[in-house]
Amino acid sequence: MPAQIIDGLALSKKLRLAIADQVTSLKQRGIQPGLAVVLVGDNPASQVYVRNKIKACEDAGIHSVLEKYEADFSEADLLARIEALNHDPAIHGILVQLPLPAHINEQKVLEAISAQKDVDGFHVSSAGALMTGLPGFWPCTPHGCLKMLDDIGYDLRGKHAVVVGRSNIVGKPMALMLLSRSATVTICHSATQNLAAFTRQADVIVAAVGKQNLITADMVKPGAIVIDVGMNRNAEGKLCGDVDFDGVREVAGWITPVPGGVGPMTITMLLDNTLQSAERSAA
Ligand code: GUN
Repeated sequence: MPAQIIDGLALSKKLRLAIADQVTSLKQRGIQPGLAVVLVGDNPASQVYVRNKIKACEDAGIHSVLEKYEADFSEADLLARIEALNHDPAIHGILVQLPLPAHINEQKVLEAISAQKDVDGFHVSSAGALMTGLPGFWPCTPHGCLKMLDDIGYDLRGKHAVVVGRSNIVGKPMALMLLSRSATVTICHSATQNLAAFTRQADVIVAAVGKQNLITADMVKPGAIVIDVGMNRNAEGKLCGDVDFDGVREVAGWITPVPGGVGPMTITMLLDNTLQSAERSAA
């Protein structure tokens, strides 16, 4: 029997309706949640992501501001804009779309965002909070993956989760979130020898590398859950993940599609973080 599909689009719709309701009640208390999205340069993929984020805010009743700058915008000017947004009471979340042009120090920019408004969860104090179990914003993509596991009612306790990829944005925070649920976690990466030997032991695989067809059917234990974070374009220009979907769905118990899996959940968790930030500002 082929794997059941974890429908990120359907789950997103459900969660976004609940978020919109909470935004309405916050507005009734006189608080309008606001998100600032900062885009530097003309990376085509970033332009699409940013457009989708702004549209999702609109649909949820969240006020959004898009600040767009040319690719030669200076680091100093960008830092000054972030400082102004840090002090803007109408803004509860600040998101600087990555990647930034090469002349800008990405880490410096992320650290300039106030931790109280760090709805992407990329600030070092957000990362530290996740690591130590303290309150703070969790990065949206891995948090969306966790929500999908929750939605199918999966209990991670004692299960073996294998995360493929070690980025600060997905792999590392994903591993910490799975650990927070008492999974046994293995992190694999580009220097891992015999990747298949690890993935074959996994009850849950999270693939977050950015390599088409990295995970094939022979690498998956029958019945395993496979979460595909990859966002790649195949030779025909079609969006595809890191998992060979058609092959793996014949083996796995559950699988996320690309598109329509993790992608919409990332934006949903961004809306949720922005809402949480606005609620905290009112407390
Ligand atoms: N670039 C790719 N993914 C992301 C994301 O989740 N947030 C930001 N700010 N930039 C990204």
